[in-house]
Amino acid sequence: MPLPKLQQIPAGIAAVTDYEPFARERMSEQAWAYLAGAAADELTLADNRVAFDRLRLRSRVLTDLSGGNTRVRLFGQDFDHPIFLAPVAYQKLAHPEGELASVLGAAALRAGMLVSTQASVELELIASRAQTPLWFQLYIQPDRDFTAALIRRAESAGYQALVVTVDAPVSGVRNREQRAGFALPPGVEAVNLRGQQPLQAHADPAAGSLLLGGPLLAAAPGWADLAWLQQQTRLPILLKGIMSGADAERALTAGVDGLVVSNHGGRSLDGLPATIEVLPEVAAVVQGRVPVLLDGGIRRGTDVLKALALGADAVLVGRPYVFGLAAAGAVGVAHVLQILRAELEVAMALTGCADLQGIGPEVIWRTSPR
Ligand code: FNR
Ligand code: LAC
Repeated sequence: MPLPKLQQIPAGIAAVTDYEPFARERMSEQAWAYLAGAAADELTLADNRVAFDRLRLRSRVLTDLSGGNTRVRLFGQDFDHPIFLAPVAYQKLAHPEGELASVLGAAALRAGMLVSTQASVELELIASRAQTPLWFQLYIQPDRDFTAALIRRAESAGYQALVVTVDAPVSGVRNREQRAGFALPPGVEAVNLRGQQPLQAHADPAAGSLLLGGPLLAAAPGWADLAWLQQQTRLPILLKGIMSGADAERALTAGVDGLVVSNHGGRSLDGLPATIEVLPEVAAVVQGRVPVLLDGGIRRGTDVLKALALGADAVLVGRPYVFGLAAAGAVGVAHVLQILRAELEVAMALTGCADLQGIGPEVIWRTSPR
């Protein structure tokens, strides 16, 4: 397959959210409902943003910023900056090159990328184009032998961590998708799951009574499956979708190597709080024992700073890069990452933080300093 053709950045883009209208006009109403939408009334989707916007920062002046950098080391892997591409399914909905354009954009900005189990391109092909560490986002399948084989494939292709998404044993109530009549168009499918049933793109509330006590949840993974998973791989295992101190504690007891505080971008359970509000509770339990990442609502470099200040080691972005992808392919993905990274550096300089270790809770403004 030839390398993706490079596209132009649309004129007038300054912030990552400026990509949104360009993305929207390039895709069907159905695809937009899937990519931009979330569950039910989208309360959690909105809260992820509102909670970041409520936080204010404390500036520090005349600080020594020489030798400053944004480097971070996670699981023995070095990254130039702490901004990763979140796992997003079916990227061919956004752009014909799909995940292949995203991985090229990640390479340009030396960003880590998490590849979804439900990617629309073979995981080996994505890995063959990677120039930065890739992590594989795993949905444990009802067929555990298939799941084990999928892990083998990810390991052989060179993926360097397994990120097990635990907040979506069933798909959320995706009313926006239902109203738009979303269905995957021909040519877009979960190619790495051939023969398996991917997590449904939208749940039918009318079928709700079949859920509890039904076969879907009977086959859903539980804590016992984590021990099984640890026997399947030597890769570090992260759990994505942790939204309480209690689950963080349980995960650490089970020996996981990292956590992602995430509410699935508001797509799973509507009514969950914003991730940035939950982060301090999780960080207080973890106490630096394993890396903690956060996603949901990151749209500014100052959001990255706020997350790092409240206990995250790195962040993932989802929709912003998918909108960049839709508008301008690999170039759009790279541009989104570049904007966020540049904004993070400005925010660090103006809060007196020369490196990520220097970013602590004191950069968040509180009326009485502590
Ligand atoms: C997702 N997300 C997701 N997560 C996951 O673990 N596996 C997946 O396949 C997907 N697929 C997916 C598709 C689309 C269209 C979106 C928008 C999101 C969730 C994703 O990894 C991440 O948690 C959120 O997108 C983060 O929120 P923001 O940055 O989009 O606000
Ligand atoms: C989603 C699933 C695929 O959020 O994770 O659409």
